[in-house]
Amino acid sequence: MQNIYLRKVGKYALRKCLPGDIPEVIAINWAALPEHYSDSFFEERLKESPETFLVAEDESGKLAGYIMCRVEYGFSNTKRYGLARKGHIVSVAVLEEHRRAGLGRALCEESIVGMKQRGCSETYLEVRTSNEPAIILYQKLGFRTIATHRGYYRDGEDANLMSRQI
Ligand SMILES: CC(C)(COP(=O)(O)OP(=O)(O)OC[C@H]1O[C@@H](n2cnc3c(N)ncnc32)[C@H](O)[C@@H]1OP(=O)(O)O)[C@@H](O)C(=O)NCCC(=O)NCCS
Repeated sequence: MQNIYLRKVGKYALRKCLPGDIPEVIAINWAALPEHYSDSFFEERLKESPETFLVAEDESGKLAGYIMCRVEYGFSNTKRYGLARKGHIVSVAVLEEHRRAGLGRALCEESIVGMKQRGCSETYLEVRTSNEPAIILYQKLGFRTIATHRGYYRDGEDANLMSRQI
């Protein structure tokens, strides 16, 4: 059987998401973020890109966080011209009681490894301009803001488009 475990982060373990994890992932999404998706959206992302859909579990096997990405092909965000295969971080969240333990960083790092395996040369994401913790995390990971999308979110908030090469 394929090993789904990637690395330990303190008392947590990072591993690939399994179909049976989706209800718990959705519960974390509802607890941590205002952006939600249909169950089938999560299932499709997992089928399409299992290398970049990861979870963090605690010692008891309960999920503490997840990251879900999409592999896309389109105009490069990091080069002046041309097309690129890009890993889009669609959603990442860690339950409040498990934050500041390095999980957000580790989930992003490991999903970027998965993107590389899928042939991506760059990665990008959108983040609310008010979401300081996430913006600091992404900056630490080498992401830079390359544009601001005005009124990107349903409630009218702007998004920073952040990107980096892989
Ligand atoms: C953003 C989020 C995923 C970060 O997860 P996390 O596991 O707490 O992050 P980490 O512990 O890996 O933090 C890595 C670094 O990011 C920065 N950071 C994270 N949270 C921070 C905070 N609240 N304030 C300031 N800096 C913060 C720090 O530099 C931190 O390193 P340090 O703890 O050594 O100082 C988490 O806060 C979260 O789930 N937020 C709600 C959902 C969300 O906003 N997702 C992102 C949408 S784009």
